[in-house]
Amino acid sequence: MNEANRLGVMIQGINYQLEDLEKDIWIRLLNGALKSREAFHTTSIATIADGAISQRTVVLRKVLPAAKQLFFHTDTRSHKWLELAKNNNISALFYDAPARLQLRIQGKAVLHQNDAIAETAWQTTRLSSRRCYLTMAPPSSVSDQPTSGLTPEIEQEQFTLDESEMGKQNFGVVAINVGSIDWLWLHHAGHRRAHFNYQTNTFQWLIP
Ligand SMILES: Cc1cc2nc3c(=O)[nH]c(=O)nc-3n(C[C@H](O)[C@H](O)[C@H](O)COP(=O)(O)O)c2cc1C
Repeated sequence: MNEANRLGVMIQGINYQLEDLEKDIWIRLLNGALKSREAFHTTSIATIADGAISQRTVVLRKVLPAAKQLFFHTDTRSHKWLELAKNNNISALFYDAPARLQLRIQGKAVLHQNDAIAETAWQTTRLSSRRCYLTMAPPSSVSDQPTSGLTPEIEQEQFTLDESEMGKQNFGVVAINVGSIDWLWLHHAGHRRAHFNYQTNTFQWLIP
């Protein structure tokens, strides 16, 4: 860390160093996974689909700050899962409007299905969320009418936890091994930007 990096960013009278901001990022991500009202509860995930970019919103389900990992759940029949199986490059975009904070995360995805990580996640998935994995036709199938793809019973949550086990075969957990984080904080007196690269282990200020 060179001397220039000792100059921090002043937020409400406190001088934050790059190392402080990096810790703050992971606290915010952790809060996002734990609390549904937090801005970082959802993220926009970008994948590469045959050379084109594809994005969608997902719920941040788990964060492991020490391992630098983020997790979300999805249907293993979905486009995103199949795209990630072909190309594990992934990007996650977060924006907290009240905090005026953007995170652009780059990483590599690891797909978990029928393993200990998927099993633990499935066990903690509530009945209402399990519904998502119970459509007969895979996500993105064309339908001749507007539909959830669920039977009326499942749609109205008239099924038991035992019956919901059918969904397990379609359930997957995507782990993102974070390679770098681009941090941008908007401020009327001048924006601030920092880059945290875990591959090269370099933390730097950038011009916004
Ligand atoms: C607020 C919100 C949260 C969502 N959370 C998830 C999620 O956690 N997992 C998921 O697979 N899809 C989630 N979706 C749906 C996806 O955005 C997407 O429409 C769907 O998964 C199909 O994407 P794909 O065709 O790229 O696979 C969510 C959508 C919204 C609007």
